[in-house]
Amino acid sequence: MKIFIDTANIEEIKEAVSIGIIDGVTTNPTLISREKSRPEDLFKQICSIVPGPVSAEVISLQADGMVGEARRLSEIAKNIVVKIPLVEDGLKAARILSQEGIRTNLTLCFSANQALLAAKCGASFISPFIGRLDDISLNGMELIRDIKTIYNNYGFKTEIIVASIRNPLHVLDAARIGADIATIPFKVCQQLIKHPLTDIGIKKFLEDYRSIPQNK
Ligand code: E4P
Repeated sequence: MKIFIDTANIEEIKEAVSIGIIDGVTTNPTLISREKSRPEDLFKQICSIVPGPVSAEVISLQADGMVGEARRLSEIAKNIVVKIPLVEDGLKAARILSQEGIRTNLTLCFSANQALLAAKCGASFISPFIGRLDDISLNGMELIRDIKTIYNNYGFKTEIIVASIRNPLHVLDAARIGADIATIPFKVCQQLIKHPLTDIGIKKFLEDYRSIPQNK
């Protein structure tokens, strides 16, 4: 499973990339609003740090506006993927952009039918938001299972990005299902690495090693 980092924070991206676990980045307008730089400058900087796909979201709600924004965003760097909300105009825009060879990530997906339509319109990626479904007592992972089944049934090439991940169990379940990608907040990346038994084990090994007599 590929791992994307779900942040627009340069320090977090650099840190995660230095560990060697990051295949791409997803951003959204909320994440961008937390940073000080202009969106275009931020996207350019992120694309120079991460060679994999970097999702940058459009703001327009009409298909022609989305397409115009997408064309401009895709000129920032080769690895920009244009994020488009999963509404009727978003599907229209995705179809046009896929014919132009501009990669899209259809976002704010909350149903398998939305994901089916996104794939039919040539979306490169689909982003089902599992955490937000869990938040309203629906099972987000069931949605991933359904999309995976549907895409397998018809051989769609659209890659599933498990989004709105809140904890390590979400990552584990995404991998069990065989999702293509999990996009993970920096905090959850750190949680994936940590295990208390690893820390206890290291401490004990070092203590025992130090107790070995010098002249042994
Ligand atoms: C993914 O593309 C989104 O940026 C993100 O995962 C949304 O997560 P949230 O529901 O925690 O805001």
